[in-house]
Formats: sequence, C-alpha cells, structure tokens
Amino acid sequence: MCGIVGYAGRRGAQPILLDCLKRLEYRGYDSAGIAIVGKELQLFKAKGEIAVLESTMPEMEGSVGIAHTRWATQGKPTTENAHPLTDCSRKVAIVHNGIISNFMELKEGLLRSGHTFSSETDTEVFAHLVEAELKDGLVDAVSKAIAKIEGTYAFAVVGEGHDEIVATRRESPLVVGLGEGENFLASDVTALLKYTNRMVYIRDGEVVRVTADSVDIFDSKGEKVSREAEKITWNLEDAEKGGYPHFMLKEIYEQPEAIHDSLLGRIEGEESEPFFQDNRFSNVKIVACGTSYHAGLVGKYIIEELARIPTTVQISSEYRYSPVARENPLVVLITQSGETADTLGAAREAKKRGNKTMSIANVVGSAITREVDYTIYTRAGPEIGVAATKTFTTQLVAMYLLAMELGAQNKTLTAQARRSMVGTLRNLPRAVQDVLNQARVIEALANKYSDARDMFFIGRSINYPIALEGALKTKEISYVHGEGYPAGELKHGPLALISKESPVVAIAVRDHTYEKMLGNISEVSARGSPVIAIGFEGDTELSKFADDVIRIREIPPIFSPVPIIVVLQLWAYYIAKARGCPIDKPRNIAKTVTVE
Ligand code: M6R
Repeated sequence: MCGIVGYAGRRGAQPILLDCLKRLEYRGYDSAGIAIVGKELQLFKAKGEIAVLESTMPEMEGSVGIAHTRWATQGKPTTENAHPLTDCSRKVAIVHNGIISNFMELKEGLLRSGHTFSSETDTEVFAHLVEAELKDGLVDAVSKAIAKIEGTYAFAVVGEGHDEIVATRRESPLVVGLGEGENFLASDVTALLKYTNRMVYIRDGEVVRVTADSVDIFDSKGEKVSREAEKITWNLEDAEKGGYPHFMLKEIYEQPEAIHDSLLGRIEGEESEPFFQDNRFSNVKIVACGTSYHAGLVGKYIIEELARIPTTVQISSEYRYSPVARENPLVVLITQSGETADTLGAAREAKKRGNKTMSIANVVGSAITREVDYTIYTRAGPEIGVAATKTFTTQLVAMYLLAMELGAQNKTLTAQARRSMVGTLRNLPRAVQDVLNQARVIEALANKYSDARDMFFIGRSINYPIALEGALKTKEISYVHGEGYPAGELKHGPLALISKESPVVAIAVRDHTYEKMLGNISEVSARGSPVIAIGFEGDTELSKFADDVIRIREIPPIFSPVPIIVVLQLWAYYIAKARGCPIDKPRNIAKTVTVE
C-alpha cells in the first residue's frame, strides 16, 4: 500500500503536492518523492518520512506534478527505490501503488532491448514500457503499457513537455478531484478534501488524462467515458480513517485486499514461487510474540499437516534463554513490525546457534529482514491500530504458502491437493468479505455481552490458537478479562471459574474435533455459562447447544482460522466500542515493542 497524488493547475504544484501527500502518510512512510514538469522534468526523492523530503528538497517550478509516499513491497526502502521512477532518458516519471506480478519477465525483455534500470523495484518496468510506446502521446503509451502488466496498480505518469498527468488503475484506488482551473488526483479522497469535495472515481482498466482545465476518462477500448462527480461530505479527520471511526475497524475491513495482495504472484502455476531452495530441514521452530506467536501456533498445525515436518513454537523472550537442542531447525521468526526487540534478540540467538533463519515480516527492510537468511513479506500495508488484525491474517497466508512449499519439497503434498488448496486460498478474500457482511449481527451480539467482566474462548486443534487470539484481542482493546483455552482442558481446572456471569465463545466448525466440541459446550452450559458458538452455515445441530450462533460459510477446516479470527476481531472491536474504550491506543501497550 502506497499513496499517490497529482496536481495540474495554475499554482505552483510543489507545496500543494506535499500538502496532499502528508494526508496519505498512513498508507506508507518509508520513502517519498516528487516530480514536477517545468521547463524540464524535475525530480527529488528521499528515504524516510515525508518530513525528510520536505526538509531536503530544492524549490521546484511548474504547475503539473506527481508525488508518492511508499510502503515497500519489492525492493528495499532506499532513495533509489523511492518513487517517482523514470525511464532511461529521465523524461518520463511515474508513481505506482500496487504490485506488478510479472515484472521479472518484463524486466528481462526490456534489458534485452537495451533499457537500463536504476532501482530494484517492480514499478520501474512500467516507466520503461511507457518510454518504449511513447510515439502518439502519453495516453496512448500508458494504454499500450498497461496491456502488458499483470498485477494490481494505480499509476500516475508525467512526461517532459506534456502539461498533463495520465493515470490508470486496476484493483488499487484512484480518485480525481475537480477544482476551478485546477484538478487533482490521489489514492484516497483524504488527500484532496482541503482543496475540493467534488470527486470522480476512476474504475478498473480506465485511463484518465488530467490537465488544469479538463479531465478525460477513456475505457479499456479507448472510448471516452462521461461520469458525474460525487460530492463528499466527510470532514478531514473522518477521511483519514477512510470514513471509519477507528483505524482498527478500517484495517479489519482491509483484510480481503491485504490477503489478495499477499497471495499475488505466489500461487500461479503448479508450484508456489520458492521462498528458499534449501530442503534439508528435518524440523521447524517458530519464534514470535503476541499475535504473531498465535500465527505461529496455527502455522505449526499447517506445516505438520501439509509437510509432515515436526514443528515447535516458542515465545521469543523464552526461546532466547532455552537450552540448545541437538536438531538443526529452520527458525521462522514472525513479526509484523520486524522491530520487536524480543524477536530480534531471538533471531540473533538462532544465528549464534548456527541455524538458518527466516522472517515473516510486514515492513520491508525492517531490522529483522536484514539479519535473517530468508524473508516472506506479508503485504498488509501499514497497520496503525495497536491491535494487530490484517497483519495477522496475512501472516496466516504466509504460513499456508510456506507449508505448501515445504510439503512440495517433501513430496507430502500431491499436485492435486496443492491445486485444491490454491483454489481455496484464492477464495479466502471472499470468505473474509462474507464475515464482514455480517458485522451488524456480530455487533448486536457483542453489545448483548459487553458488560461481562470475564470471557472464555475455547477451540480445538487448529482453532485453539484462534481462541487464544480472540482472547488477546478482547483483553487488549476492551479490558475485559479474556482467557483462551483448548476446549478439552477446561475440565482440568478452569471450569471452576465458569458461571452465568462468564460468557464462553466456542469455535465449533465441523472438523474431526466437532463432536468433542459439542461435549465441551454442554459442559459449560450445564454450569450456567451463556455460549456464543461460531460454526459453519447449515449446521443446525449447533443451535441446540449454544445460546447464540455466528455462522461462517463452510470452508475446508484447515483454512477456517482466517474467517473465524475476523469474527473475533469484530467481536472484540464492538465490545470495546460498547464499553467506550480508546480502541486504537489501548492503555499501557505500544504498537511496536522495542524493549526486552
Ligand atoms: O511486530 P510484532 O508482530 O513482532 O509484534 C508482536 C506483538 O507485540 C503484537 O502482536 C501484539 O501482541 C499486538 N498488539 C496484538 O494485537
């Protein structure tokens, strides 16, 4: 997720672009850049937040330009990889939000025909494709270039000698703002609201030309399209959160897109793109903290099921001080921030023990990725709410991908089983969207139980860690005492705490543990606890056992943690909302924990 803006008008473009860009910083902040068309094309980029760009850039003249704030997905967060990126002649500059999944293939072709590259990004291929097609104007060149691109994108392009911006999109957002004698474009209306509230939303496959006095939209056949502007009534603060009251809710709703992006280019063809070539690992050790630790616990089930490789999971701060075992595992360190001190310390310890290390991180170029042998990046975009949501579901996606790769290497996953898993992975964004569509039902139930002081979350097998994560989400943001248990363990102690004052959230999908789960639900309802069960659609049995049932569409049980955790994220969110808690910034905890 990156932010792009554009301005074409009569005023100096530089301060306006910078001002608009600052409102998109929530979309990424590892580097930023600006290109302005004056007598010649001027360009300036800087590593770090927009403030660094602002304090270091020279004055630029011109009233047409584009700018970008980056959240790296391909290529480290460096000045060279910052956008705008240019063609060989430096006469075309482009900014991009998205992922070009066939960039390697395109780059090889462009290199063969003599183009030279100055960054490690996927984006740069597009600048060269436009350069190669630039005979009949920018609109024509951009239209021809996008025909070669696979992946997701919103591009904005400027060229020396052209007083226009040409932009296009596929699956990444792009909006044009209409002014008087000036027009704007951006990834998000937030960026433009200070200047105009009249917006035209660009649709997939369309190309738009923006000048000071005109906005022309062309469909994929090159036909002109006319579209009415929409009037936006949000205030600036609402707009920053995309109209959602909290970043957490916005990020919960971003999950279909985050999952889709995290799969992009990684499940095409018969084999997943290999994350590493080494298949000598007889065992895997996953090390992480908090929510990332719960992703690791789910990962253990998936790896053992698909690859039959013994896997252990340990909390980072414990791993560092644990005895050194004889085996030589692949140590997988899961951390969305890539900066958690305990997990960084664990990575160093693993290296000291002579183990190969892999990180699963969301922040490209973060500290851990510089220390390990391999990295799988989740592509969730920046997460601002302290409670991890979209970074968790994309960590689960990374676990499926890793397990499938290990399974293929170990020959424990047949080609047919792999195909069927790929089919389900492709449908995961839809499964999550189905849950989001039920938010009102979940909110009503959360309101019903929001006065509880204690809550229990139970599950079995692969959904036991999801019970732990549901409990963590609930305690973290609503301050309700939430405890997660493997359902079969209640009778060994915690049942003593069960009463009508302590609702139990029970995950009971139809898998090999289902009958046992029904038994555990009966145990707690016999002691007066209200039970809220989460099960599959069409399961009529469950309502005979539980007081309330939240239903998700049936999915192979190994994938059920993904939609179920979205139910529990919404559950925690609405409980916290009903209790009036400061959801995005809960007391006593920080987004990134850099102390041990
Ligand atoms: O950045 P990391 O994934 O390493 O962070 C680990 C934990 O601090 C984090 O998951 C924490 O538990 C979350 N706030 C939970 O929502």
